[in-house]
Amino acid sequence: MPSTFRDNLLAGQSAYITGGSSGICLGIAQLFAAHGARVGIQGRSQAKLDAVAASFACETFAADVRDFAATAACLQAFGPFDILVCGAAGNFPAPVLGMSANGFKAVIDIDLLGTFNTCRAAYDLLRKPGARVISISATHGSVPYEGQAHVCAAKAGVDMLNRVLALEWGAAGVRVNVIAPGPVDGTEGMRRLMPTPEARATTMGAVPLGRFAEINEIAEAALFLASPAAAYITGAVLPVDGGISLSSGRAFHSMT
Ligand code: COA
Repeated sequence: MPSTFRDNLLAGQSAYITGGSSGICLGIAQLFAAHGARVGIQGRSQAKLDAVAASFACETFAADVRDFAATAACLQAFGPFDILVCGAAGNFPAPVLGMSANGFKAVIDIDLLGTFNTCRAAYDLLRKPGARVISISATHGSVPYEGQAHVCAAKAGVDMLNRVLALEWGAAGVRVNVIAPGPVDGTEGMRRLMPTPEARATTMGAVPLGRFAEINEIAEAALFLASPAAAYITGAVLPVDGGISLSSGRAFHSMT
């Protein structure tokens, strides 16, 4: 059987990626563009968008995913497309007793409501059948970590939202899947959650593969889910985590 992972796997296709101005989603945007896709990235800061747009071919859209109307307007401006990646996320380490109701809400709103807003606004613009939705969750959706109640609750919601979307949108030919990364080097999340060598070492000890992911390894998983190789996959939550979700959350560096 010939491999489907050829050059220009996404030639002639368009992909819209939230959270695409940094980290994992920037890596996905760059890989999709390298495979021939027309790429649109949404972020909150026009200055950050301008900086990354200088490095590869993409269209930029400044809007907060918490704002349905603003996100819908950006999607409309990008036009019909084939692939939606929902990756905008927020995080800070704090125990429940160290976060206000507004702090909890901020993360729920960015991660969960933001994913809903983007999917809801995108549906009419997705080229069906054959469209793909890929949301970026985290192992937090299935493993409880101290100091991460907001993110654990939000990511569990993202996982379940996407399973429901897979059910509801399957008949229209839309595949809906989730990638659940573990610790990924070179991301804002790692800078916030594992700021010291000790924190990195503790967490790395819980990763069966013994190392953290590179951004490109998450992007490759997104490319797989966007590719014809995944044509019969929908409703999946795919851990790309070196096996860390097999370990107890207690083995993770404590963020409380
Ligand atoms: N500990 C406790 N509470 C915190 C906090 C921390 N380290 N950082 C922020 N908060 C609280 C704020 O105090 C505020 O609550 P309050 O109004 O009761 O004081 C609430 O969270 C919202 O903060 P604010 O800065 O106004 O929200 P924002 O919408 O500008 O930012 C965050 C959202 C808090 C998620 C911010 O960290 C962010 O923008 N993150 C995006 C980047 C990111 O996190 N990337 C990693 C993804 S894995």
